[in-house]
Amino acid sequence: MNKRLVTLLLAAGIAVIFAAGGLQAGTSVEDTLKMETDGYKKRKKGAPKFKLVEFTHKKHIEEYKLNCGECHHDKDGKPLADLKMGDEVKKCGECHNKFKKDKKNKKDIMVHENAMHGNCVECHKEANIKAGDPKGRKGPAPTSCGKCHEKA
Ligand code: HEC
Ligand code: HEC
Ligand code: HEC
Ligand code: HEC
Repeated sequence: MNKRLVTLLLAAGIAVIFAAGGLQAGTSVEDTLKMETDGYKKRKKGAPKFKLVEFTHKKHIEEYKLNCGECHHDKDGKPLADLKMGDEVKKCGECHNKFKKDKKNKKDIMVHENAMHGNCVECHKEANIKAGDPKGRKGPAPTSCGKCHEKA
């Protein structure tokens, strides 16, 4: 078999596993998430320039020692600090459900992209500042586009 075919078969196998996982309630989570939202897929005007690489959910919790409430919160934005694995959790995009930027209100936090960047990038900046870079751009936590997104 050639390499491409092997890759395709592998991808199909993984897709089946993911589809089976989807039958369970939304209480489980992969160790690493490919964060491609519907908003991304539904984009009509031109293909997205960037594609998200991956988010190491498990590593963020275990190695970087983050509390669930640093990222997950309730409908009022109050941190879900007591969340446990197995509890029901909403996806960010169920509330941050605007998938297009509003030109008049560019920072609207209910826009999915702003919520994601607000959470991921802001914490990364703080982490890098703590690690010694005064501007928070350089350090172990990525803040530049290409480190999270690869060119599509
Ligand atoms: C650094 C941020 C961060 C931390 C810390 C974090 N999560 Fe998440 N979690 C996310 C993101 C982002 C998603 C993806 C949500 C989406 O797809 O919209 C997610 C998804 C999930 C999902 C899957 C939801 C679904 O329906 O697909 C579960 C369950 C979950 N997290 C539980 C937890 C628990 C329990 C903790 C604490 C032990 C935790 N998370 C800590 C950011 C985090
Ligand atoms: C149940 C609905 C809901 C879910 C699910 C949700 N959010 Fe939010 N989020 C909100 C609301 C409402 C606010 C605005 C709170 C306010 O005005 O203070 C908010 C605010 C925010 C903010 C701004 C916080 C600040 O301090 O300025 C960020 C960043 C954010 N959300 C990211 C996320 C991420 C990332 C996820 C998924 C891991 C997520 N949200 C899931 C409802 C939600
Ligand atoms: C509350 C803080 C916090 C939030 C929120 C957060 N991160 Fe991180 N992230 C970190 C820290 C700290 C590191 C670097 C840890 C180290 O290497 O010392 C990191 C590292 C990373 C890395 C490089 C290493 C790896 O594990 O792959 C990627 C990529 C990354 N984060 C993506 C994301 C994405 C995407 C989100 C939003 C969905 C996110 N992070 C949200 C704290 C955070
Ligand atoms: C720490 C990781 C991280 C960094 C750094 C980052 N992003 Fe993102 N970005 C995300 C996540 C997570 C999402 C939400 C996932 C999705 O929409 O697929 C997102 C979504 C987006 C989207 C929306 C995709 C869509 O079509 O809905 C665009 C556009 C984007 N980012 C551009 C950028 C640009 C430009 C930069 C640099 C200025 C940047 N990002 C830096 C993590 C990051």
